[in-house]
Amino acid sequence: MINSVDVTCVPAVTMALVKDVMACAPSGVLWLASLLLLSAWTHACPHPCKCAGTTVDCSELDLGTIPDDIPRNTTELFLCGNKLTSIPSGGFSGLANLTVLYLDRNQITNEGLPRNAFQGLRSLKELHLTSNSLTAVPLGQLKAVRRELVFLDLSENSILQIPTGAFSSLRRLRELKLRKTGLQQVLPESFSGMDR
Ligand SMILES: *[C@@H]1O[C@H](CO)[C@@H](O)[C@H](O)[C@H]1NC(C)=O
Ligand SMILES: *[C@@H]1O[C@H](CO)[C@@H](O)[C@H](O)[C@H]1NC(C)=O
Repeated sequence: MINSVDVTCVPAVTMALVKDVMACAPSGVLWLASLLLLSAWTHACPHPCKCAGTTVDCSELDLGTIPDDIPRNTTELFLCGNKLTSIPSGGFSGLANLTVLYLDRNQITNEGLPRNAFQGLRSLKELHLTSNSLTAVPLGQLKAVRRELVFLDLSENSILQIPTGAFSSLRRLRELKLRKTGLQQVLPESFSGMDR
């Protein structure tokens, strides 16, 4: 695993250290503690990703797992072009403000998507899953994001069938992309329950 250091833990630990040494420590220790605190903050971006504002870009890094120290204020997360085959249960659960998630060009399978894979993504509007190894629409998993999801891209997966009413719980869905999925025929019933 590339990102084994949980950076989000560091500030809490360092805070405790600062508090402890306040009472009786020589000023040198306090200075060291401040330095630690500072370095923890400047490393808020998960290694080896790049961050700008609340956008975290972890694309094209050959990651086998999602970094576990993604800041909670992240609004856009790019994980394109990695080697993800699965998402852990609740893997994005702290990211309540995430609106856009790119998972294009990985090897994610339906088996690799536990029921709670997208749990906690309460603000998610766009989910990009182009070019993965899905063989079915991950219906159960999409329930977690059904309230806000506007855009869903499942292109370039081997999805041969879409069950009746598959997208009916995605109330706000405006755009669904299914390019090159091998779908033989799209039955109108698949989209029953959708407003549009
Ligand atoms: C987001 O959170 C991280 C880590 O807590 C912090 O370092 C960063 O400054 C925050 N970014 C914004 C734009 O608020
Ligand atoms: C999420 O967004 C809300 C509204 O913009 C903001 O008040 C809150 O601080 C954000 N949460 C995090 C963890 O950044």
